[in-house]
Amino acid sequence: MISTDIIEQFKKEETPLYYYDLPLLRETISTAKAAADQWGYHIHYAIKANANPRILKEISALGLGADCVSGLEIEQAVDHGFKSKAIVFAGVGKTDKEIRIALNQNITAFNVESWEELGVIGAIAKEMNKQAPIALRINPNIDAKTHHYITTGLDENKFGIPMNELEGCITYIRENPTSLALVGLHFHIGSQITDWHVFKRLCLKVNEWNAWFIEKGIVVPILNLGGGLGINYENPEGEPIVDFVAFFAIFGQFLEPRPEQQIHFELGRSLVANCGNLISRVLYIKNGVNKNFAILDAGMTELLRPALYQAYHQIDCLAPSNKQVEQITPYDVVGPICESSDCFGKNVLLPKLVRGNLLAIRSAGAYGEVMSSRYNLRQALNYYFKE
Ligand code: LLP
Repeated sequence: MISTDIIEQFKKEETPLYYYDLPLLRETISTAKAAADQWGYHIHYAIKANANPRILKEISALGLGADCVSGLEIEQAVDHGFKSKAIVFAGVGKTDKEIRIALNQNITAFNVESWEELGVIGAIAKEMNKQAPIALRINPNIDAKTHHYITTGLDENKFGIPMNELEGCITYIRENPTSLALVGLHFHIGSQITDWHVFKRLCLKVNEWNAWFIEKGIVVPILNLGGGLGINYENPEGEPIVDFVAFFAIFGQFLEPRPEQQIHFELGRSLVANCGNLISRVLYIKNGVNKNFAILDAGMTELLRPALYQAYHQIDCLAPSNKQVEQITPYDVVGPICESSDCFGKNVLLPKLVRGNLLAIRSAGAYGEVMSSRYNLRQALNYYFKE
């Protein structure tokens, strides 16, 4: 619930703005960490979900590592308190410059996605007199049963080392022990996964791969299971924090690591989604032929997910009058951007809206602010933090 005090504050602020509930963020991170600690698991926060400096500082202060996908993310992570020894670096297209940044920071692991990339990391490490820690990303061919744009673990996806390159990678690392060290296996099958059977299947596949490496005489120190834990977008009030205890228990039950192997996760969305809301004002109400449009001052430029993935976000009218509540009306809630996909929801039932009403678009803390753009030359975002 957004308190009336805070809604009063919003009335004085310029919108659209991102509202972050930092106490909820801290509670979410602490809950996740305590649940992971039960099993001795390590969490790397996937910075791509939200790289707001305030959010990064809060999360690093609670002792999580970081999962980065660019050189700038690595630098931001370090600048905002993450220990470089607890950073992993993923991504199918790391540039030479980014590889150098990561080597200079002495990170935990490069999550490597191809034989050619491994060769480039090896060559740069050699030139810098460094040893690059390598986790090989394996594509386990598991259907994450999520939106096809955020499914990553199938053979048809661009991610992971193709099977025909895997043996070559292992040999190459063995042949270059001064510049490369095999420290882990990495898996990540998709995002917003809500069918938890998928995680059990992931565990069983990881066991098979781990056994395959052990047969070759290789016990990698780290098994990194990636991220992907989905949240309940339908009910942000009822379930503000995912059941992390139950989530990690799946891995505790089905994963069979050697005692000396560390288990790592790269969670993004489940840690930050519900602490963020996009607050917007109704600019105009337009009653079309068969539709009522509520036209907001926020659009796909501030929150792209509905336009890109047809994603659902709950929309709430903040502090409507009793009279408005008595007249529930369906609206297509749209933004000001010159694209028909600029729509936050169709036929959304809301109190009868008027110009100036404040709306909260919920669960926008993950992949919201970070995916914003200046298309249509939009103004910079505004912020409000609940301390
Ligand atoms: N690890 C890797 C290798 C990833 O690619 C991702 C997300 C994560 C971890 C974190 O996954 P999470 O726990 O947040 O599900 N923009 C999309 C989501 C893209 C996810 C990309 N990779 C959205 O708004 O739904």
